Amino acid sequence: MPKSYPTVSEDYKKAIEKARRKLRGLVAEKNCAPIMLRLAWHSAGTFDRQSKTGGPFGTMKHAAELGHIANNGLDIAVGLLEPIKEQFPTISYADFYQLAGVVAVEVTGGPEIPFHPGRVDKNEPPPEGRLPDASKGADHLRQVFVTQMGLTDKDIVALSGGHTLGRCHKERSGFEGAWTANPLIFDNSYFKELLGGKKDDLLQLPTDQVLLSDPVFRPLVEKYAADEDAFFVDYADAHMRLSELG
Ligand code: HEM
Repeated sequence: MPKSYPTVSEDYKKAIEKARRKLRGLVAEKNCAPIMLRLAWHSAGTFDRQSKTGGPFGTMKHAAELGHIANNGLDIAVGLLEPIKEQFPTISYADFYQLAGVVAVEVTGGPEIPFHPGRVDKNEPPPEGRLPDASKGADHLRQVFVTQMGLTDKDIVALSGGHTLGRCHKERSGFEGAWTANPLIFDNSYFKELLGGKKDDLLQLPTDQVLLSDPVFRPLVEKYAADEDAFFVDYADAHMRLSELG
């Protein structure tokens, strides 16, 4: 069944396009694409399809959700966005945070991700503990992405390519370092580095390395390392569905 999207007014669509331009400016000025992508993903990735709770509904602005261990540091992203959000009172936080994620990928050289507005803000943050734990294995990734969120094995690999951007900060996650030599460029270097093995100056989390050892994940890593266009097509599709969970 084709997905039907909420209808929004022409004024709302115009506000979204204007906000998109302001967000491009912010990302260019502050080099904050990585943390904007992490904000969008941590907002959406709490969706639980059984209880239909969590998901991209703007709840990350609440202190309760920012206080979840997995979200350490995301108060910075929320704070950077607030002055722009204030200029667009009609836009929901839910749409705004997901738009920031889409812009982050686009502005750093990644694929264009279709954006459908119309998310409504919810008041209730999700319970803590729904986002993946970087120290765990393939079963855990499937529990979170497939069982809880309703995504696929292919989505796990494609979306992990989001680690082409940014880095780990010891004071936020306990891990330190970037996945690629150019953490402000969105390309397929995450997969090339993964296949190339460990390097002193770059990092691979246990959940990244799992993509090499699992028989379903590994062929996709090899495909994306060899073919950036194929990665971009699958990434854009997976990111769009992530941003529309619930
Ligand atoms: C597969 C499960 C995942 C795990 C276990 C995981 C874990 C982590 C950890 C530990 C950090 C470091 C946070 C910090 O110290 O600042 C991080 C950063 C990041 N993650 Fe993930 N992640 C996962 C999936 C994803 C996905 C699906 C995306 C986006 C599509 C993503 C995008 C990012 C980005 C862009 C950063 C860098 C943030 C920055 O530089 O400030 N991650 N991730």
